[in-house]
Amino acid sequence: MDRKKFLKNLGLGVVATPIVTSSLISCSKEDDNLEGPDNNKCGITKSDMLGPYYVSGTSKITDLNTQNLPGDKIIVSGKLFGGTDKSKPIANAMIEVWHADSGGTYHPVGDGNVSDYTPDKITLRGFVNTDAQGNYIFQSIRPGLYPGRPRHFHYRITANGYKTLVTQIYFKDDPTTANENIENCRIIDFKKDSAGTYKGNAEIHLESN
Ligand SMILES: [Fe+2]
Repeated sequence: MDRKKFLKNLGLGVVATPIVTSSLISCSKEDDNLEGPDNNKCGITKSDMLGPYYVSGTSKITDLNTQNLPGDKIIVSGKLFGGTDKSKPIANAMIEVWHADSGGTYHPVGDGNVSDYTPDKITLRGFVNTDAQGNYIFQSIRPGLYPGRPRHFHYRITANGYKTLVTQIYFKDDPTTANENIENCRIIDFKKDSAGTYKGNAEIHLESN
């Protein structure tokens, strides 16, 4: 399935205009000078804290904001690769995503399995699958800040033949990102479009088993 069709099937055809541009992708600090269309040096994506609010068993979903919580709309897209080059997109991987609401609170403020909670307690969580070209996309609201952490999304990625990756992606426009030692590949340059929606691209590279 090509990217346009993939987005259309997700009901997100309006974002089919490519937001995957090399200028939005930066790489590890030592590779800063390699930014640009010829940059294939992003390296294996580093792991990051699972945190205390991972809930297993969430639903496949493209709009994580199932309870229409207030906040700035955000669309995150990206591509998943096996290894460090870009010749091996990973199809049909599972990317679980969870994040805080605009006030910095998780739903639920807890962990475990979805079956531990009533459905009304679960939102801003779910998973998407990559398509045949390794593309993924989801929408939600921009995560809020909570004490001690830069703004972030949590990812847990599972794919046949690759090590499960628990990681986080961050926001270039958040000055507190500099408080943590995060390589540039995971600091995403989200841009607000004319409709007020943030859009950004997070490329991920998994390590083989
Ligand atoms: Fe978190």
